[in-house]
Amino acid sequence: MKILGIETSCDETAAAVVEDGSTILSNVVVSQIDIFAEYGGVIPEVAARSHLEVMMPVVAKALSEADCTWDDIDAIAVTYAPGLLGSLLIGTLTARTLAILYGKPLYAVHHLKSHVYANWLGEKAPILFPVLALVVSGGHTQILYMPAHNKFEIIGTTHDDAVGECFDKVAKILGLPYPGGPSIAAAAASGDAGKYKLPHPKVEGLDFSFSGLKTAVLRAVQKELGLPISHPSHDLKNHLSAQQVADFAASFQKTAVEILCEKLSLALAKYPDIQSVVIAGGVSANQKLREALSEAYFPEPKLSGDNGAMVAAACYYEIQSGVMPVDPYSLNIYPRISIES
Ligand code: KG4
Ligand code: ZN
Repeated sequence: MKILGIETSCDETAAAVVEDGSTILSNVVVSQIDIFAEYGGVIPEVAARSHLEVMMPVVAKALSEADCTWDDIDAIAVTYAPGLLGSLLIGTLTARTLAILYGKPLYAVHHLKSHVYANWLGEKAPILFPVLALVVSGGHTQILYMPAHNKFEIIGTTHDDAVGECFDKVAKILGLPYPGGPSIAAAAASGDAGKYKLPHPKVEGLDFSFSGLKTAVLRAVQKELGLPISHPSHDLKNHLSAQQVADFAASFQKTAVEILCEKLSLALAKYPDIQSVVIAGGVSANQKLREALSEAYFPEPKLSGDNGAMVAAACYYEIQSGVMPVDPYSLNIYPRISIES
């Protein structure tokens, strides 16, 4: 079964063709990172307009690189939520129109489910259930208990910022470009991870909190520079040396990875029946996290971020689990299916 997956939830316009949930026939991603690097974050209206410009060429390229015509496509899968509304609308309206035009069944896929299913892409050892999934993206930080395909229970979540968001905000304080994850990882390579002691938040159970860690970095930078806490955060970068930036990046990255690993260990102790651990979402590209969790499954680094292949993979397992297509004529964006369902 060949599925065309379409993803436009944030600042990547992506389409891919995947066979039977694992073999990637094409995977086209056009990133808007270059546009947003200078702003330090995504501007939703600009993101939506950029999706509009490249959406159809991206779909056409995904089909041609997969050597497919529309006759070869069995279903269309599209990210319906969560994400930026304007960005999601470009993807969902495109998918609905194509489904009507070519008479294909249309599936609305939850974005976090897609990130989890990036782990099933490619040839690898079978992932055994029950699975524990750590979802670490720009918008979410969650631990999911997955007893079988397409069944999810949220057992831990962040009370405030997501870990990826924390990477992005700390990068901004340090004067590193958006997205913060890769730029912090690069700066950290020449830094001393033991230089600054940053606190681990005290959050009950399997939940997370990352806004305190961002503030702790802010206060530590102000202290290091001998500046008052009223000193504007956007100006601090002008006072930091390259070595201080590297040391703060390394210390922050180490702390963030430790926090994730601690919660994962706690979850494994609480759910001793777990057979496999999968890590999902943009932050799963982080090399230090990969080294710290060497027993876990990670997507191929290029599949950690947003892409269409993971949407097609998630859709394949939804179909296997008996999920029905949605009505492409429906004016409602899509039913609010919770990730637990
Ligand atoms: O999953 P994703 O591509 O988009 C969302 O669904 O949010 O995640 C993007 C997030 C950004 O916050 C980015 O800074 C982070 O993933 N990220 C990383 C790395 N690469 C991307 N964080 C840490 N280390 C990385 N290498
Ligand atoms: Zn994502």
